Formats: sequence, C-alpha cells, structure tokens
Amino acid sequence: MRKYAFLFSILLVSCASDEDVYTDIPTENTDIPVVPTDPIVGGVDMSDYFTINFEALSNYSNPDYPIHYINSVGDNNEPATNITTDNGATLGRILFFDKQLSINDAVSCASCHQQGIAFTDNNQFSTGFDGVSVTGAHSMRLLNARFYEGESFFWDKRAPTLEAQTTEPIVNSVEMGFDANNGGLDALITKMNTIEYYPALFETTFGDTTISVDRIQRALAQYIRAMVSTDSRFDEAFAQNFNPNAPGNGIGQDFPQFTAQENLGKRIFTTNQGNINCSGCHQLPTFALNDNVRGIGLDANETTIFKAPSLKNIGTSAQFMHDGRFTSLTQVVEFYNSGIQSGALLDNRLMQNGQPRRMNLTEAEKQALVAFLETLTDDVVINDPKFSDPFIQ
Ligand code: HEC
Ligand code: HEC
Repeated sequence: MRKYAFLFSILLVSCASDEDVYTDIPTENTDIPVVPTDPIVGGVDMSDYFTINFEALSNYSNPDYPIHYINSVGDNNEPATNITTDNGATLGRILFFDKQLSINDAVSCASCHQQGIAFTDNNQFSTGFDGVSVTGAHSMRLLNARFYEGESFFWDKRAPTLEAQTTEPIVNSVEMGFDANNGGLDALITKMNTIEYYPALFETTFGDTTISVDRIQRALAQYIRAMVSTDSRFDEAFAQNFNPNAPGNGIGQDFPQFTAQENLGKRIFTTNQGNINCSGCHQLPTFALNDNVRGIGLDANETTIFKAPSLKNIGTSAQFMHDGRFTSLTQVVEFYNSGIQSGALLDNRLMQNGQPRRMNLTEAEKQALVAFLETLTDDVVINDPKFSDPFIQ
C-alpha cells in the first residue's frame, strides 16, 4: 500500500510540473485546437516509415457511391461491431503491406494480392514465405468483397466472416508461417509490440496500445471492405442509363456507350438469351456472387461448393476458378457453353431436363460475352493511392 502511495506522489509531482509548463500559455489561446505540424502519432514520427499523411487520412469510411449502386450500398457484410473508420482502414492498409507479418519478413498479404491486378496473383498458385512452397488454391481478387452476402470467405467458404479470414494466411504454414510450431498469433503480437509504430497506431485506432487478434482482424477487414469498384466502363455506362423505374433499373436497354458486341454480351450475361443467365449468380451491379449458389460442375461429381469473388476486373486476371485451371476468359466461356459436368451438387440454374445446360452459343456470341466481361475492368481502384503500398521504400 505504502509503495503505491509513494508512486502516486511521484505522479502528482510530475503532473504538477507539467501543469507549471502549461500555465505559461496565455488563457485566451486555450480554445484554439492544437494542430500537430509533424506526422507524430503516439510519439512516433510516422514519416520515418510511411508516405501516409496522418493529418488528412484518405476517406475509407464514407465513400461516394454512384447512382446505380443505390440498391447495393446498404446490402453488405460489414458487421455493426466493425464499422469502418479512416484510422482503422489505414492501419489495415499498413498491416496488409507489412512483410513483418510473415515469420521471416519475406511476404505480406500484398505479395499474393497485388493492387494492379485487382488484388490477386498472376501465378496459378502463390509462393509462400519460404520462397518454394505454393498455395493449394489460386489467389482471389478482393474487390467488392463487402458485397458478398454469404459473409463467408475463401473459395470453399471455410472462414465464417471476413474478420475471421484475415488472420488465416498469417497462421498458414505455407503462406506467412506463424503456425503453431512458430508460436502462432501470440508470437506475431510479441513481434508487433517491438515494432515502433504498431502500439502507437493501435492506440489512435482503438484507444489504447493493446495489440490483439481481434484488433488486427478488424483493421484488415476494414481495409478490404473499402476496396469497392465503381469506375469500370460498365459502371460509367450503367450510371448514365440508370432508370429506377425500369425493370433491372434499365440494364436491359442497350448502352449507347457500349459497342454492339459489348451490348450483345451484356444481353447474354443478364438474360436467358444464351440459355444461362450469368447474372442470376454473379449479381449486378457489384458482380458479387449470390450466396445461394451451389456447384457449377467444373468436374463431374464435385464434392465442394465454391464461391467466386466479384467479377469486377476479371479481365485483368490471368487464371480463373478456384484452382486457376483456365487461363483465358474464352476458356471460361467455353466451359459454360459446353463443359458443365453433372453431379449431385450442380446448381439448378445450370440444369435443364436433369442434364447440365448447354448454351450453344455461336463464336460471335462467345466473343461478345468475353467483350462484356472486359468492360468490368476498373482502372481507378487498381491505381488509387489509398490502396497502394504505404511504406517508404
Ligand atoms: C502466399 C499467398 C497469400 C498470402 C501471403 C495471403 N493470401 Fe489471401 N489468399 C490467397 C489464396 C491462395 C486465397 C484462396 C485460398 C483458398 O480459398 O483456399 C486467398 C484468399 C483470400 C481472401 C478470401 C476472399 C474471398 O472473397 O473469399 C481474403 C479476404 C484474403 N485472402 C486476404 C488476405 C490477407 C488479409 C492476407 C494477409 C494477412 C492474405 N490474404 C495473405 C493467397 C495469399
Ligand atoms: C449457378 C451460379 C452461376 C452461374 C449461373 C454462373 N456462374 Fe460463373 N461462377 C460461379 C461460381 C460458384 C464460380 C467459382 C467456381 C469455382 O472456382 O470452383 C464461378 C466462376 C466464374 C468465373 C471465374 C471467376 C474467378 O475469379 O476465377 C467467371 C469468369 C465466371 N464465373 C463467369 C460466368 C459467366 C460468363 C456466366 C454465364 C455464362 C456464369 N459465370 C454463370 C457461379 C455461377
């Protein structure tokens, strides 16, 4: 007890001396907010590490959605317990690009999720921290992940939420290596406590310097949910032709901004004209997958139900499907046209008279479908500085 009293008196003394300093400030100035002139966060000069302007953070929390997104904006998987803030998403961005989140400082999330190609990897399988081992599945684009209503993540939906997903790559023995043998997430947190900027950044985001699994997950999920694509040629044309009173908000009208080929592809994608309505599963305008989708019959008698990431920027991907088996959109379209296999999990939308559907498209129709998919490329989001590597190189 006496020991605490002694400590307390030291605190009082130090407070008193602080107060002495501040009493010198003229009272008429006290209501002028103190604006820091250096990017000091929690006593750390962040300009030693990052290109981020901490006095004017990028806007992640309140994005400006175009008119044709009006019905989707509220419909997303952001939980009430993890509403995006600019501080939280900024911390998530730093975590996403920090190679120190891997056991040997070799890879970051961004190694396998590269901004310039919509946060995927051009390799069929991605190389992990040891530089040799590869992942068992193809990396996924991350755009519009917030609009997946099923809430679950990974191709096979094994992570129940985006928050839960974000630390799985860190503890994965191939990807980032903080597996049980290497101390797991406790070892990562011990490491992060020795990195000067983390306690300070966690304090500005969450109110105190504690680094926890929950807080790491929240920040990473906030950053990923902010990756919304609204600026492809498709988006610009749909926004200009948007009609809230028309069926499908006017999607069925030919877009004057599109070529005849792209308009034909749009009709095939969004109607039964080609015998499979792609948009019944890949939903407009976000192109996030409907959460009630069953199997698509890539192989006969599949045993796993897979999801797909949003098709936004599908045209900048080099491999397609969970195992990256296709290397062109032409191959993907040919699969839907003639290759769907039967099996107990096959989705009804892909069946006709108990058999896998056949689209029987002409060559021109197949090319039109590919041309339409290429209108989904959004160059704005894949070049937006607010999603770029924040570290000083
Ligand atoms: C070594 C490569 C690699 C690294 C590093 C990596 N990922 Fe991934 N990521 C993948 C692969 C491969 C998949 C698909 C895996 C699967 O479904 O089994 C994936 C899937 C995802 C998904 C699921 C998307 C969806 O729509 O379901 C998210 C989100 C994600 N990663 C975020 C991250 C985050 C956050 C980090 C860093 C903490 C990270 N990834 C690190 C390769 C990687
Ligand atoms: C029954 C729902 C359903 C329908 C209808 C459907 N898809 Fe898919 N699509 C999926 C699923 C599920 C996947 C992921 C499957 C996997 O990887 O195992 C997928 C994957 C894809 C991919 C690859 C995505 C990636 O990131 O690699 C493309 C491209 C695609 N679909 C385009 C189309 C087109 C074009 C049509 C119409 C001809 C269509 N889809 C119809 C459910 C559907």
